[in-house]
Amino acid sequence: MNVVDYLRISLIDRCNFRCTYCMPDGDELSYVLQQDLLTQTELLTLIREVFIPVGFTRFRLTGGEPLLRPDVVDIVAEIAALPETQDIAMTTNGFLLVEKAQALYEAGLRRINISLDSLKPEVFDQIIGNRGRSRWQHVWQGILKAYEVGFNPLKLNVVVIPGVNDAEVLELAALSLEREWHIRFIEFMPIGNHDLFQDRGWVSSEALRQQIRSHWGLTDGSVRGNGPADVFQIPGAKGTLGFISQMSECFCDRCNRMRLSADGWLRPCLLNEWGQLDLKTAYRAGVPLADIRQQVQELLALKPEINFKQRESGAKGTTYSRTMSQIGG
Ligand code: GTP
Ligand code: 5AD
Ligand code: SF4
Repeated sequence: MNVVDYLRISLIDRCNFRCTYCMPDGDELSYVLQQDLLTQTELLTLIREVFIPVGFTRFRLTGGEPLLRPDVVDIVAEIAALPETQDIAMTTNGFLLVEKAQALYEAGLRRINISLDSLKPEVFDQIIGNRGRSRWQHVWQGILKAYEVGFNPLKLNVVVIPGVNDAEVLELAALSLEREWHIRFIEFMPIGNHDLFQDRGWVSSEALRQQIRSHWGLTDGSVRGNGPADVFQIPGAKGTLGFISQMSECFCDRCNRMRLSADGWLRPCLLNEWGQLDLKTAYRAGVPLADIRQQVQELLALKPEINFKQRESGAKGTTYSRTMSQIGG
């Protein structure tokens, strides 16, 4: 049975990008009110008194965009300083890394995953929904800054969308040749923007691997991580290539994680809401931490059944209406 010890913590549901695969076109998303976000103290208390005692030791900070949270560096420092913490990582869109990478590193963050869906500024801006001055260069500078500061492993996430960025797969894969960068190709899921998914469909990891294999060859690889990526390497490359294949190959049965939303809901699965617990309301209502811990323990006991149910319906069958920015990626 899988050990569930990896907690993905969404710090905020807001984002400074509007990635087309993540958010529906046009209509505004409704955001969690400031007073409903878990505060730094509440979050740290829950980690210390609830999550660590039931076995969580690996943490990833996500969003929305986690760097929009003003206290993000302090939160990193507090989690990194806990003796039980075995791993702390972050998933970000990279826009604020030029200014924040150094402080995050000094606070104890060592692993970072950054979205980079295109090497062409105009395609990148189209994907992130930017109509103003191009943001590509600034994100690129942020990635270089994170590399220079020493983040390792440094992973770049690419959601592959047919007709948008699938022609760039070889160029993106080539980023792993000269630097120790780990490029991950993610199968587009029907979460967030169903219309785009209907229009474009998705590309399988195996199709991408065939393309890369016939160009350079491909061997097995490895890189530190807690996620579902299958890792390969172009022979002689410094970095690796990861493939996250939730559409072509369901990995729910090896799921090792739960998610804590920015407003304090504990969700045992990305793709549905079975069994979710409203920890913030319980905490604010004065429910003793021992009782909250007990509820989380009970939810953990249900996790294998939840994984099994999700495996039966699969990512393809999901009709989940939340976006990745609302769930925490
Ligand atoms: P590492 O620890 O570096 O392996 O991280 P990770 O791959 O778990 O983190 P990241 O935030 O970069 O996630 C990359 C992508 O994996 C996400 O955007 C999702 O597309 C996918 N993913 C992560 N967790 C899950 C999950 O529980 N279920 C499904 N279906 N997809 C997931
Ligand atoms: N399908 C696959 N991945 C997605 N992400 C956001 N929306 C989707 C989707 N519909 C990914 C982003 C980022 C992470 C937070 O979630 O690329 O890497
Ligand atoms: Fe893009 Fe991530 Fe923001 Fe969604 S949450 S719009 S995927 S940067």
